[in-house]
Parts: sequence; structure tokens; C-alpha cells
Amino acid sequence: MRLLATLLLYVLILPASFAQHHSGQAAIASAHPLATEAGFEVLQQGGNAFDAAIAVSAALAVVEPAGSGLGGGGFWLLHREADKKQVMLDSRETAPSKAHRDMYLDKNGDVVRDLSLNGPLAAAIPGTPAALDYLSQHYGKLPLSVTLAPAIRYAREGFAVTPRYQRYMGFRQQALNPEAKAIFLDGDNIPVLGTRIVQQDLAKTLEAIAQKGRDAFYQGEIAKQMVKSVQAAGGIWTEQDLAAYQLKIRQPVKTQIADYTMTTAALPSAGGQLITLMFNQLNTLDYWQADAQQKRHWLIEVMRRAYRERTMHLGDDDFVEVPEYLIDPEYAAQIAKDIAPDTASKSEALSDEFTNKGQDTTHFSIVDQNGNRVSATLSINYPFGSGFVAGNTGVLLNDEMDDFSALSGSPNAYQLVSESANEIEPGKRPLSSMTPTFVENDQRLLVLGTPGGGRIITMVMQGILHFIEGQDAAGIVAAPRLHHQYLPDKVQLETPGFSEADQLDLKRRGHQLEVLNRQFGNMQVIVADKKTGLLSAASDPRGEGLARTDIIIND
Ligand code: DON
Repeated sequence: MRLLATLLLYVLILPASFAQHHSGQAAIASAHPLATEAGFEVLQQGGNAFDAAIAVSAALAVVEPAGSGLGGGGFWLLHREADKKQVMLDSRETAPSKAHRDMYLDKNGDVVRDLSLNGPLAAAIPGTPAALDYLSQHYGKLPLSVTLAPAIRYAREGFAVTPRYQRYMGFRQQALNPEAKAIFLDGDNIPVLGTRIVQQDLAKTLEAIAQKGRDAFYQGEIAKQMVKSVQAAGGIWTEQDLAAYQLKIRQPVKTQIADYTMTTAALPSAGGQLITLMFNQLNTLDYWQADAQQKRHWLIEVMRRAYRERTMHLGDDDFVEVPEYLIDPEYAAQIAKDIAPDTASKSEALSDEFTNKGQDTTHFSIVDQNGNRVSATLSINYPFGSGFVAGNTGVLLNDEMDDFSALSGSPNAYQLVSESANEIEPGKRPLSSMTPTFVENDQRLLVLGTPGGGRIITMVMQGILHFIEGQDAAGIVAAPRLHHQYLPDKVQLETPGFSEADQLDLKRRGHQLEVLNRQFGNMQVIVADKKTGLLSAASDPRGEGLARTDIIIND
């Protein structure tokens, strides 16, 4: 009976997961060369993609401290080739038990943004250490003592300051507490290029996790130390909050796009919902036959409408009811009905100026020699998170509480507006944009993701479109990007990226353009040719990452 049930399950699942030929090649794309190398080090030692994901993420926690870390959280999309199992590990941070809806409002009811961005009151309970432990227990082949070894080495030996480190530190320097300054600055100054940043305390914390797993972080001395320093500086964490942290295993969102299957982030990421809603609208618009300028117009219009739904409906669905119709093609057809082929619609305008002073977070993509995959987007939210290193643990805490709606209708740091579905409640996860994704059919596979705050979802969307239109990994990461998020009612365009003629075309249709004098995102992509098993990988030229492939000799 059981055998029959298993067989039936395979018959039901297999058609959606497609057979893949393996060439012995593995690929890793991440935001830092040392993190990519940490992943290959672990693959060479007999590890699989999941072991490599532990090594890459822990290395990034050390060498790209602006982007992610043990004090943060994120989403991990997994594909296990042996049984085609696909899940999303949700290690998103949770609001502490003493958090409440109005905790960032002053007595006049105005948002005090400083409190949700800087210092320990901005920090939600981290999830990344729970994910490392879970990956190791349930998916990896090697112990944490092996997979965390490269990160521990980097923490002890230091990593070199780069231009990106300097830029993000310039943005966040004022937010650092004394412990963070001692690690990340040179006295009171931003360290010069090439300075080595050594993190002895973080090495000890990683070693404790390597020995004892998640309990070393969520209970005992390290937990006590973090709570003590958080409370001493005005935060509200308790030891119970840490001990109670729960990793969630979610069913990813699956959507049919052209003749591809997309597998992507479930709530509390808005990504899967919105990308599905955008593609379902495009399907009603004859998108694929249009010329490039027409396509751009339609893309902006579907972005506008999808982000409008985000504002009104999306939040942690363990706490609020999120309407199921959002990913229903019929609903998409309804909201796309009034899209005019040649004229921009109007979102109701926001008075606040859109500012974007720099953001971070990280994404990496891994495919191993046996076809296992990990697409992970991890964050501490702002560059260097809340700027608060907890006591002598070396752990830099996130400021992910700012992803909640501090006040209904009031924009957060990414100018994203949300309402009661995303208000603060104890234990709740803030709505996220992080969207690790797979797209595949029986010919080709795409593994992708990027940081970029509210723009993550539209960047991933454009990455998928470029893939479907036949671009390779390098083309996908290099392509110019545009963004619309309903409010403010502006199309943001990267520079360089869009010609005068393309800009004129959008203006002629009535779009309000905001031409940024810079680029955004840090996309990490792997493309597989399933017939040959050959992999190619690319790291965003906007960043400082490294993507490469290598032959791994199987045991
Ligand atoms: O979860 C989110 O949507 C944000 N905390 C991500 C922040 C981010 O990507 C900043 N990066 N550039």
C-alpha cells in the first residue's frame, strides 16, 4: 500500500520537476568571491548544494557584513534532485513578544523612523542560525564543523575592505554602537581600501554553532549576552523570544509562465504573489509578440497594479488572511482590463520624495554536480542592519522591524506602503520582497535572485523575462532595469541603461520618469542546459561578487 502511495506520488510530482542530465559540473554565484570559494571548498570535501549553502551564507555573514548575517534572516528555496522535493525554508525574523503595533509612533502618532532602523529596538528575532542548523540536519552530508570552517577562518584572518564596503559604511556609520565601531571602523573613520576586518567574537559564536547547532545561539551564554546588551540599549528582546524562534517550512508558489514552471517565494515574501500576478496580467496583453518599447509600457503597468495589491492585502499569512484570488488568472485579467496600450495609468501620487540612499541584503545561487539547488536571499535589511553588535557575540543585529507597517499607509525605508495586514504583532514576520526563484522546463533551468528592497520583485520579474526570451546568465544579470511600485507613481530607470528614444517613448505614453544616476541590484544567476547538463553562472556586474563553475568528482 505504502509502495503504491509512493509510486503514485512520484507519478504526480515528476512531470512538474523535469529530468536533468548532470555533467559533473557545479556552479555558485554569490556577492563575494570568498563566499563562492567557501562553497566550492565544501563541495570538494564531499558536500552537496545544501552544505555549500551553509558555507556560502556563513562566509557572507563574515565577509559581507553589510548584507546579511547571523543576526538576520531570509528565504531559502531548495530543490533536492533525488526525490525532486522543493521547499522554501522561511528563516525570516519575527517580532519580539513585547513588540506592539504602535511601538514606532511618538505621542502625536507620527512614525519615528530612527527607532525602526537604528539600534536594538529595530531588531527582530533572527532566523539565519536556525536555517543553518536545519539545512545541516535535514539536507546536508557534512557536519557544521566542516561547513562553517571557511567562515570561521575568514572571521579570524579578516577580509579586505572594498569600495562597496566603504560606500555602505559611509551611509550607516552614524548608526553604529561602540561594539560595531570597534569591529567595522578604524577609530572613527571608514577603513581605507584593503584594511583587514577581523572578527574574533563572531568566530567564537560561529564555533559554538559548529559544535552545538542552533541551541548555541538561541539558548545559553550567547543568547543571554545578546538579550542583556539589547535590553541595556533600549531593546525589548527576551531569552524566551530567542528560545521560541521557529523556522517554517513553506510550500513555494508555483506558476506556469509561457512553457516554463516558476517556483518561487511564498508569503511572508510578497515575491511569489506579485510575480504571479504580473505574469498573469501579461498573459492577457499579447506581451510576447510586442516590440521592446511596447513591452516596457506593459511591464510598468502590470508592476503598478501588482504593487497596489501588495499595499492593500499582503502580510504574514500565519497572522492575517491573504486573499487567494491574488494568484488567480481571472483576477489578474480583471485588474489588467483597463491597461491602455499606449497611455500610462495614474497611481494616486505620494507627496514624499522617493529617496534611496543605498541598501543591502544578499543573494546566492547554487547548483551542485548532482542537480541539487539552493536559491537563497538573506538579509539584515539596511546596510549593516541596525548598526548594533550585541555585546561580545560579534553578531550584528538586523533592522527588519522596518519592513512592518509602522503606521497604516505610511511608507517604510523603501517607500513601500502597507496597511493593517502588515502591522506589528508579537511573533509575526514582516512582509518581505526577497524572492529566490527557479524557472524551468525540460530544456533549461534558471536559478536567480537579488537584493534591492522593494525593487527585488521587479528585478526578478525582468530576469525571468530575459531568460524566457533566450538570454544567457551574463545577459540576464547585465540587462538594464526599470521599476514601478504603484506609489510613488514614477518609473525608475537605471543609468546607464535606457536610450533617449526609449525614455521619450515612455514619456509620450504619459509615464513619469525618475532617471536615477546609478544602477540597482546585485543579481546572482545560474542557467543550466538540461540536455547537456552544462551550467553557466553570472554575478551582477553592479556588484563585487564571483560566479563560477567547476567539475566536482563525485564520491
Ligand atoms: O525583506 C525585505 O524585503 C528587505 N528587508 C530586503 C532589504 C534589501 O534587499 C536591501 N537591499 N538592497
